[in-house]
Amino acid sequence: MQAMISGIGHYVPEKKLTNQELEQMVDTNNEWIITRTGIKERRILGEGKGTSFMAVNAARRILEQKQIPADEIDLIIVATVTPDMTVPSTAAVVQKELNATNCWGFDLNGACSGFLYALATASQFIETGKHKKVLVIGADKMSSIIDYKDRNTCILFGDAAGAVLLEPTENDDGGIKDFILHLDGRGEKYLCIPAGGSLRPASNETVANRMHYLYQDGKTVFKHAVTGMADVSAKIITANKLNSEDIKLFIPHQANYRIIDAAVRKMGLSDEQVVINIDKYGNTTAATIPLAMSEAYQKKLMKPGDWVVLAAFGAGFTWGSLLLRWALD
Ligand code: COA
Repeated sequence: MQAMISGIGHYVPEKKLTNQELEQMVDTNNEWIITRTGIKERRILGEGKGTSFMAVNAARRILEQKQIPADEIDLIIVATVTPDMTVPSTAAVVQKELNATNCWGFDLNGACSGFLYALATASQFIETGKHKKVLVIGADKMSSIIDYKDRNTCILFGDAAGAVLLEPTENDDGGIKDFILHLDGRGEKYLCIPAGGSLRPASNETVANRMHYLYQDGKTVFKHAVTGMADVSAKIITANKLNSEDIKLFIPHQANYRIIDAAVRKMGLSDEQVVINIDKYGNTTAATIPLAMSEAYQKKLMKPGDWVVLAAFGAGFTWGSLLLRWALD
């Protein structure tokens, strides 16, 4: 028994934040942002709505598309670093909104690798036969933790959600085949939100020092991301006795066009084999991969039986790759 992706959907807010608008907010310019990152615009959810709003909308698209009653869902995993609240989990809010009355669920913090971590985790519940329908959602409202006075970070991130439904299959031509995941906490200080957790709870001082926003040492993260993502993607292909020509699509985490490009070169892939949408959405953290995969599916870029490689790198550091055969028509 294997776990296959049997449904996919995404949600992006309508409001766009363009490079030109950012030029009015910080000392930056459109050309710098495009050449250094590949980003042209990102989506912003706005006040009054949390990550769960996007997660629910992405999940609903799957349930409606497949005409599945919400009470058939066994488990909901929400990968996010921007939960609606610290307690309860965003999964609880999603469960309530979907009225998924027969499930359990939890949030998973794997930062930008969160969706891969969640997909790997969910696949185990299917493979053991314990569950039949698992919703895996990657969703982040990055605009809620970004300092729009910090040009190092505010140009990079956006808000979005993507979701997949996992179900069992006996068909060897479709399903999750392998994953390689890593965690190295020595990366902690290079990409973090310094305050607001149990170590440094919110105080007047933490707020005054802007410590509730995402901090990033971009250069260090960039270096680790290039090697981490490229190595682990190349490794999963060779470990499964495949060649780069066997891969129909490489769907990487969208953090920086140059990181993706380096991984693509190292894997020996052509431009047609890689999905890139960072220009439209920026880095949406846990949402990038399911969002890119959902758009690729809508564009009919893959068909059943095609080999697909997913790869990510993020805070922690976390990184990894996942190999699957596409199962959806
Ligand atoms: N506009 C204009 N100039 C900017 C800028 C901006 N938005 N942000 C930074 N700069 C400046 C820097 O201050 C620096 O100036 P200095 O040389 O006078 O100090 C210069 O541009 C070069 O900065 P640098 O950090 O070397 O740029 P870079 O090529 O490394 O690109 C990032 C910066 C953030 C785009 C890049 O490091 C990156 O993408 N890092 C990893 C991002 C990532 O993957 N994050 C999440 C992991 S999931």
